[in-house]
Amino acid sequence: MVATDDAWIVERTGIRERRIAAPGQACSDLGTRAAQQALTAAGVEPTDLDLILVATCTGDQPLPSTACLMQTQLGARRAAACDLSAACCGFVYALSVADAYVKTGSRYVLVVGAEVMSAITDWTDRSTCILFGDGAGAAVVGPAEGNRGILSTHLRSDGGLGELICVPGGGSTMPPNEKMLAENAQYLKMKGNETYKVAIKTLEEIARETLSAHGLTVNDIDLYVPHQANIRILKAVAERLQLPMEKVFMNIDRYGNTSAASIPLALDEAVKAGRIKDGSLVMIGAFGAGLTWASALIRW
Ligand code: UT7
Repeated sequence: MVATDDAWIVERTGIRERRIAAPGQACSDLGTRAAQQALTAAGVEPTDLDLILVATCTGDQPLPSTACLMQTQLGARRAAACDLSAACCGFVYALSVADAYVKTGSRYVLVVGAEVMSAITDWTDRSTCILFGDGAGAAVVGPAEGNRGILSTHLRSDGGLGELICVPGGGSTMPPNEKMLAENAQYLKMKGNETYKVAIKTLEEIARETLSAHGLTVNDIDLYVPHQANIRILKAVAERLQLPMEKVFMNIDRYGNTSAASIPLALDEAVKAGRIKDGSLVMIGAFGAGLTWASALIRW
């Protein structure tokens, strides 16, 4: 499709494979499958959910929300439902909202990160079309016992750098029309190299802030689960934090950058691989369009 090759992609991004949704397979289809698995794993019924938050930038359609579509598919009759737009940070942002709801009396909040990035990918732009993948992950957030649970969340944004990653068309600035299509404005645009530098800096900063909020150092962390954007970003952040790579979870080689889905996908694989156990201290960190960056510390 574009002038690129496997060696460049592997060396510059760490990506070897990606998953792409089938034609007609929408964000809510992926999200509902992940949500059902999360509810089963948690032993929670859909009717026990108070709130469904879907972090996505590739929802099924502008209205209604993907969360409302999923609420029906899941049969979560009692649940409020809405989407949350914070791009690659969406899952961490949604986790933070869920944490606040649970701490103020809600019982169970379903947090979903689901993306069909292939729908907003310009397959003629080699700087972006080699990066993104489709996927979904979900978590059920409920009251924690003892010293376990979400210890803190840390969220930041800088809208002044919004142009680094954006989809310029399809909203009220440039509604869907012939001009938008002629300019390919419905697709994601990214200034990759500038984004890369800000990503490393902000991921390091927010990780340090998270650790120092608890008087901890990287030595106390059992596993760091970062947003899977680029293997070089993950290695650079680990080096700056002096965090050994054995403590950094990576699966970008098999999924690419799945935006809001990347952290829940990684958490699920880390649990299944036995790298997160009961009592593990896990730090998650993300960076993405907005710009937004975020982190959370979780005692599993
Ligand atoms: O998840 C949300 C946040 N997003 C990110 O964190 C993404 C951050 N950015 C990145 O991951 C990297 O910047 C990219 C992987 C997107 C690009 O890697 P880079 O090392 O920053 O490359 P570059 O943009 O500086 O381009 C280097 C060269 C250029 O050629 P010249 O000008 O040096 O001749 C590009 O035209 O690589 C060229 N290039 C490619 N070559 C082969 C760009 N894309 C490709 C490609 N295949 N797919």
